[in-house]
Amino acid sequence: MMKKIVTILLCTMAGLSMLAAADGDAEKRPVGDVARGKVVFDSLCGECHEASSREEKVGPGLAGVKNGQLPTGRKATHDRLLDIVNDGPAEMPKLKDRLTEQQKEDVIAYVLTL
Ligand code: HEC
Repeated sequence: MMKKIVTILLCTMAGLSMLAAADGDAEKRPVGDVARGKVVFDSLCGECHEASSREEKVGPGLAGVKNGQLPTGRKATHDRLLDIVNDGPAEMPKLKDRLTEQQKEDVIAYVLTL
């Protein structure tokens, strides 16, 4: 009986500390700023992507992302955009090491307004 209670207590504590850790990660993510993101976009992404149309440059134009869809039709979410910026789908270069975490959040915030 005692053993059971101890086990339940330990599991609860482990669960709570995992929740706390997950929260910590979310807080560590820098908050994106749209105006700064535009500067990043214009200096880096703009050479390959139109911001105000869906016209193809080197990559697809990104207008309309704010309506929830990427050019490929995939859902436009923060996490997917972060994957795209970090690891670049197919032909797009991986930009993981070209941008700081802050710049990534900024450019994602901006792209989500296009
Ligand atoms: C050297 C050219 C180049 C640069 C620089 C570049 N991209 Fe791309 N990007 C591409 C190409 C090419 C594709 C199409 C990839 C494919 O589907 O084959 C693409 C695709 C995308 C997509 C669409 C993915 C989808 O699922 O529809 C997004 C969003 C995107 N890029 C965002 C960005 C952002 C944000 C930056 C700047 C941080 C950036 N790109 C910089 C070439 C580039």
